[in-house]
Formats: sequence, C-alpha cells, structure tokens
Amino acid sequence: MTLRITTKEEYQLAYEKSVSSPRTFWAEQADTFEWFEKYKEVVEWEFDTPSVKWFIGGKTNITVNCLDRHLKGRGEQTAILWEANDPNAESISLSYKELHSRVCQFANALKAQGVGKGDRVVLYMPMVVELAIATLACARIGAIHSVVFAGFSASALASRVDDATAKVILTADGNNRGKKHIPVKSIVDDALKLGCKSVERVIVLNNTGLDVTWGDRDLWWSDAIKGQSIQCSPEPMDSEDPLFILYTSGSTGKPKGVVHTCGGYMVYAEYSFKNVFQYEEKDIYWCTADIGWITGHTYIVYGPLLAGATSMMFEGVPTFPDAGRFWQICDKHNVNIFYTAPTAIRALMACGDEWVEKYDLSSLKVLGSVGEPINEEAWQWYSEKVGKGILPIVDTWWQTETGGIMISPLAGITDTIPSYATLPLPGIQPCLVDAEGIEQPAGEAEGLLCIKHPWPSMLRTTWGDHQRCQLTYFSAFKGMYFTGDGARRNADGAYRILGRVDDVMNVSGHRLGTAEVENAINEHEAVIESAVVGYPHDIKGQGIFAYVICKDGAANDPEFKAAINKVVVKEIGPIAKPDKLLVVPALPKTRSGKIMRRILRKIAAGEGDQLGDVSTLLNPEIVETIKSHAADV
Ligand code: WTA
Repeated sequence: MTLRITTKEEYQLAYEKSVSSPRTFWAEQADTFEWFEKYKEVVEWEFDTPSVKWFIGGKTNITVNCLDRHLKGRGEQTAILWEANDPNAESISLSYKELHSRVCQFANALKAQGVGKGDRVVLYMPMVVELAIATLACARIGAIHSVVFAGFSASALASRVDDATAKVILTADGNNRGKKHIPVKSIVDDALKLGCKSVERVIVLNNTGLDVTWGDRDLWWSDAIKGQSIQCSPEPMDSEDPLFILYTSGSTGKPKGVVHTCGGYMVYAEYSFKNVFQYEEKDIYWCTADIGWITGHTYIVYGPLLAGATSMMFEGVPTFPDAGRFWQICDKHNVNIFYTAPTAIRALMACGDEWVEKYDLSSLKVLGSVGEPINEEAWQWYSEKVGKGILPIVDTWWQTETGGIMISPLAGITDTIPSYATLPLPGIQPCLVDAEGIEQPAGEAEGLLCIKHPWPSMLRTTWGDHQRCQLTYFSAFKGMYFTGDGARRNADGAYRILGRVDDVMNVSGHRLGTAEVENAINEHEAVIESAVVGYPHDIKGQGIFAYVICKDGAANDPEFKAAINKVVVKEIGPIAKPDKLLVVPALPKTRSGKIMRRILRKIAAGEGDQLGDVSTLLNPEIVETIKSHAADV
C-alpha cells in the first residue's frame, strides 16, 4: 500500500526527495503495487517531441491492484456504495468480492464480443454501478475505455466514437437525472446514423425500462453476461500501454482524446488520493463528479479502489428532490470525505442554509473542491456551514491532462488559505513564466502556470495526433508542460489559480472551447459569424456570452435565441447553451481581420467602460453599438 504523509515535516521531506531523487522517490511508491514483471527503469523523458515513459518494461494490470489484491484482506468490505436518483430507491452496496466477480463477468462478455487488448470501447452511460464495472472490465482485458459524459449530444458522441474508432459502445435504455428521464439509447441510435462505422456492437443496459428501438448491432447487457464466468485472468499490460482515452476541449478545433497509460496513472492515482484526502481505513468517501469526467475516473473509480476504500457513486443531481440532497446522503451513509465542485457549492449556498442545517453532518472529516476556482464566499460557506468551521478544505487544482491532483493542500496538514490551491504534491514541479517563457524567481509572483518535470500520471499523447499534443502543451515554452492556466504565488510558495488564459471556458466546472461553441452556433442557417466568450457568472463560475452576426431577419428575440440553443444542444449538449446571446451587425476586428476577444470579454463582463484605446481596430465604431445593446441581454 502506498505511503501516506502525516505531518508538515514529512511533506517537506517527501517533496524535497521527489525533486532531488525523483527515481528513488517514485520507485518507492511503485513498489507498493503488484506487478507481473517489475519495471527496469523508473522514468525516461524529454519534453520536445514529447516522449515520457514511466516504470519502463513493467507489466501489471490496474484491476489487479484495484480488486484482486484486496480480496484476501477486505473481500467483504464495500467497494462501491451506490445511491439512486430517487431518494426512496434502495442503495446498492458491492463488496470487493462482488465487484471483482462482476468486473470479471463483464470482461468475459466483452471478450465474447470480440473485444481484446487495444480495442476501443466507448461508454455512454448513466451513473450506475454498471458504468464502474464496465470501465474496470475494459481495463481487465486491456481494452482502452473512453467514457463520454452522457449529457453530450449524438453529434458530440459520434465525433468521439469516430476519432477513437471504437468497436463497441456501452449504453443504457434511459438515464434518471432529477426529474428528467433521458433516452440515452436513442441518442446512441442517432449517433450511429451520423457515423460510427467502426462500431460492431452496442450493449444496452436495461436501466429504466424505457422503450427502445432495436437494431442488428444491439445486444442487451443481461444477454451479454448470461453464462459468463466470474473469473477472468487479467491481461498483462505494459506500463506504457494506453489505459484510457478521455476527450476534452481545447482552445481550437474539436475536443482531443487525452491518452493515459497503465503504470504511471495507477501509481499516481493511489498516491494522490491517499495523501490529499488523508484517507484512513474504513472511511466512506464520496466524490460527486460524473465518471464521464477525469475527476470521476481518478477519484471515483481508480484512486479509491486502489486504496481499498469505499467509494460512493450518486446517480442524481444536487437539487433533486430538494437542495438538501447532498447533505441527506452524507447523513444517511455517514460520509467521511466529501469532494464536490464550486458550482454545486454556489448553487446550494443560494438555496439557503436551512438545507444543510437539517442534517447530521458530524461524520464528515474532510471537504474537497475541484474543477474551477472557488471564490472566497463559496469557500467560507463550505467551511462554516458544511465544515462547521473546523474541517479542512482541500482545493484541488488539476486537469484531464494531468490525470491526478497536482496542487492542493493535504487535508489537515497543509495550512489552507481561501481560494488558494496552495502547495504542489510531492513529485510536482510547477513554475510561473512570463509571456516570453522566462521563469519567475521563487517567491511572490504571477504568471503562466507550467510544470517542469514529468509526473507519473501525465498525458502521453492525444489520440491519433501526437503533433497536436506537442503543439498544445509543449510548444509554448521549451522544456515545459504548459497548463493553459494563469496563477499567482505568495511568498510562502502557495499557488492561487486565476483561471484559463486561453480560449477555454469553464462553465459549471465543465470545460468548453469557445471555438467549439462557435462552430455549433454557425451551424444555424441564419448565422454568418459568431464569437463566444466566457463572463463571470454567480453560480456557474463562467457563463457563455455569444455575439452573433446574422443574415437579414434574425433579431434579438427569444425565438432566435431558442433556435440557437437548439443547434448548440444538438451539436454539443445542454451544457454548452449560451446564457446570453446578442445579435450584432459586426464584430470588432483588428486590421488583420482577427476578432478582438479581449473587447468582447470586457463588454460581456459589464466592463465596457474600461476598454482603453480601440482606435487601432478596423471598425472602432462597432464597439459603441455592441456596448449599447449588451446591457439589455
Ligand atoms: C480548472 C478538472 C481553479 C483549471 C479536474 C484547469 C481549477 C481546468 C481547479 C481543468 C481549481 C480545475 N482551482 N481552477 N481547484 N481545478 N480547475 O480538465 O482552469 O475538466 O485548467 O479537469 O479546470 O479542467 P478539467
């Protein structure tokens, strides 16, 4: 079992060692796992092409470390505790032994469908236990899983399936989310009509009993597992074999498939889980994310199971049937560690304190936050109302690409400061650079956040396009991984994340590229051109502001807005709907024809009076026109 730091001094020593002797440091962690064959070399790397390899030559299977190695000591302990959308429905509890059997059984079902090592399987599923089971089943046989958040549209799903050339899609008939019943299978059917030629099979979980249309490729989950053995020997995986692909938005083009590999990801997932949350035996741990995002991968499935924890999964939403749902669940299951997103905290805070006060939250020991900057007001509310002024809050900064938490307090060990992610984890070497890539000297500074040395769970490539990985993350500053975030550091070395400096928005903790939303809007026949920017939003963190140039006739009316929303929902999904939309006669452009987003961002933020000099624009007069209308939307 991975080692856990328990004091400030131990953190300091571990950090120093991780920098001075990274190989020894990470070998010590890696040696706590089961390997079929031990690695020969800890790390080899260069950030130019880039090429990063950890635990070279090692052979393992992450599911052996998540499941098999726990069977002896904790076979009867609950591995996954599932809470339904409907508060009156029964919870499900799967012991390590049961989870092991069900993973093996589904792994055999996948094999029977011809799925093998290296094949891609897309999971488009509700937050039910079968999603975790199927994720692990893929890993068991060496198939590369790509979980697609079930809120994405058919078109977004199809483009991911096509990019990954997936052989199989796993889905369900329907998805219960609050009051909504989403027809997931019919979205998959639509995706298959748009492309997905590589897909040979669609395995459908009978989840809600919703009527579905049936095609030749479809197979019920229950039929797929019928007669399959509950033993399945794990596929020996090379440390650097891909474990999964997870699509995420960037500043340009389509979402890219971030690739994580088996060995390093495994080591870092458990190490960061145990240390950040200070997990102790028998703790009930709940992360409210969806497995469709990286947080769900690393901190619902892999991290907690590697550590032998009890990981809760929740099917529903924070406000159904009422704003007390999270706290009711914490009370019901005596949750000890609770990990959620600032957007949920802000939404619940706005509903009033009585919802928190109704429940007994005395089991809680640690609170976590992830996905976006947490503003001071939300931090204080979380600390006082949920944490009763005494619980540590870990504000964890990381990314899909980093695979695990990078900068965060260790609960109860690191001094916390509201809205600061504070210190890097051992093994993580952040730095701040200026626009020219010059590293700011230690101590107080502000700049672009980069990472200087590889860490085990970093992305290795972007699926099918290594050059894109190089260009996006390793070309801005030589010899460094560029995060896309800006940050400030105080004199004690604590980091405060300021947010994205590129054209990536963070809407309710969801990453969306402005270009992606623009492309969706441009699909509407009346649209000539559009520009999308993020603006500060009380609950969502950032809202989406769309400026649209239209052909004659389209106007700033609710009907047009509804029509635009419709295409965005069709192209991406409801999470990408613009909060504000303004039809404009033109967009402010530079003389070389580039849209001046800085101006659009200021106007969207209500700071149109602080634009400075706009006279160098090609069309400075448009700024006043836009400003005068922006206030009305
Ligand atoms: C932002 C989510 C401030 C950041 C795990 C990053 C944060 C992007 C924090 C990655 C935090 C994440 N404080 N900002 N604690 N955590 N972010 O890939 O801008 O969905 O680059 O990964 O979210 O989002 P992603």
